[in-house]
Amino acid sequence: MLQRSGLAGHLFEKPPWRPPSKRRPPTTVALLVLTVFLMAALVTYSLWIGTSGVLIKNSRDKTSSVVVSKKPKVPIQRIEIPLNCTNDGSTKIYVPGKPRGSRGAWWKERTELRRFTSKYPGGLPDLEIMFDTEDRPGIRSRDYIGPNATAPPPLFRYCGDKETLDIVFPDWSFWGWAEINIKPWDSILKEIKEGNRKIKWIDREPYAYWKGNPFVDENRQDLLKCNVTDQQDWNARLFIQDWILEGQQGFKQSNVADQCTYRYKIYIEGYAWSVSEKYILACDSVTFMVQPQFYDFFMRSMQPVEHYWPIRDDDKCRSLKFAVDWGNNHKKKAHEIGKAASSFMQEQLKMDYVYDYMYHLLNEYAKLLKFEPRIPEGATELCSEVMACHAEGQQGRKKKFMMESLVKGPSITNPCTLPPPYDRLALAAFLRRKDNSILQVKKWEEGYWESLNKQQ
Ligand SMILES: *[C@@H]1O[C@H](CO)[C@@H](O)[C@H](O)[C@H]1NC(C)=O
Ligand SMILES: *[C@@H]1O[C@H](CO)[C@@H](O)[C@H](O)[C@H]1NC(C)=O
Ligand SMILES: *[C@@H]1O[C@H](CO)[C@@H](O)[C@H](O)[C@H]1NC(C)=O
Repeated sequence: MLQRSGLAGHLFEKPPWRPPSKRRPPTTVALLVLTVFLMAALVTYSLWIGTSGVLIKNSRDKTSSVVVSKKPKVPIQRIEIPLNCTNDGSTKIYVPGKPRGSRGAWWKERTELRRFTSKYPGGLPDLEIMFDTEDRPGIRSRDYIGPNATAPPPLFRYCGDKETLDIVFPDWSFWGWAEINIKPWDSILKEIKEGNRKIKWIDREPYAYWKGNPFVDENRQDLLKCNVTDQQDWNARLFIQDWILEGQQGFKQSNVADQCTYRYKIYIEGYAWSVSEKYILACDSVTFMVQPQFYDFFMRSMQPVEHYWPIRDDDKCRSLKFAVDWGNNHKKKAHEIGKAASSFMQEQLKMDYVYDYMYHLLNEYAKLLKFEPRIPEGATELCSEVMACHAEGQQGRKKKFMMESLVKGPSITNPCTLPPPYDRLALAAFLRRKDNSILQVKKWEEGYWESLNKQQ
């Protein structure tokens, strides 16, 4: 369904790219009126989230449109709703039954929704979604073709691939990951930006860097074979991330913002997509993307050679060696690739747009519902404020990150306008460009190794 509406790929697309449009600045009078209205609306709006899946319930008529202004003539006061640890008063989340399984993961994606709804109060109609927190997608397209096929069930999760129809949704790490000391995305973007200014690209180590957990996937263990030894140098510097040790040492070695010290950084999938992707892409370094199978909600908008450098998954070491040599011999172009990716992260993937993606995705989805969602009997109520107040563990990080990433009040701007779907030709051209760039790099790579072999 999502694929048909073409929504998933379009929020951050390049061609035909349109900057998210905002409404024209309102006049001072309009501003005041709207602000008053907004305050009134705040008092009255009622917003419910429940699930059977997850149910979002809300009375649209009571809520105002929110003030929009890019360059307001008078400073807009951001309205902050004070945190109330006994009862958040306005918003509730319901999930069916009692929480089971890994509680941590279970809470997380529900709080994402909660925080989203306080950004655009009244921005969503009643809706119910099913969310699967398993890493790998599960709705196989081939089960839903043929004359007797039923429509695929709409299932939300964090990633998809070519063979599946799952609906992709931003993962929890955008709101911080206390267990491994990863701060909320907004804070990390700021830190990385600072860091990028401090260590210029040209002054970084001229090798391909990776640090991570190789035990989650064979593909990663295969990558480790490319590490530098006394006998070989494929231009790769690879390290194992030992989370237990890092934890004991207070995560001094694993701060993602401090890991932009190499000119080239390798992204390789683990069991499924990896949350590390956005931190790598934001670094200003050239991302070496080992041919991925999965995609998260933003990645399909990015282009090989423009935003990252494609690395073969069936011949990693030789591919890495060539890529580093190419970059060190084409420094300006290489740095441009790094910069294109980091500005994509800073501008297109800033938190406001992550929320806007959620906003449009859920709104378009809700239009297709053919029944009236109801709060299921025996549902458990969740509330992110209460959760934040009572969050414990990880030396207080859990609470800190939750507080930091709570949306403190409604947005002062409207969500960006959803661009129309690609027309078929434009989409085909966009996908063709991807394939061609990857093929082109393969050809360069083959030429490079042929000429090296001839010299010997
Ligand atoms: C918090 O919510 C409770 C219950 O709605 C209310 O009695 C209390 O006054 C609120 N506290 C603050 C500080 O707003
Ligand atoms: C579709 O359903 C009809 C009626 O039950 C059946 O005769 C036919 O074999 C089915 N076709 C496929 C491809 O399963
Ligand atoms: C890769 O090589 C570097 C440099 O010799 C070394 O420090 C590092 O531990 C090696 N990584 C692995 C995973 O063996």
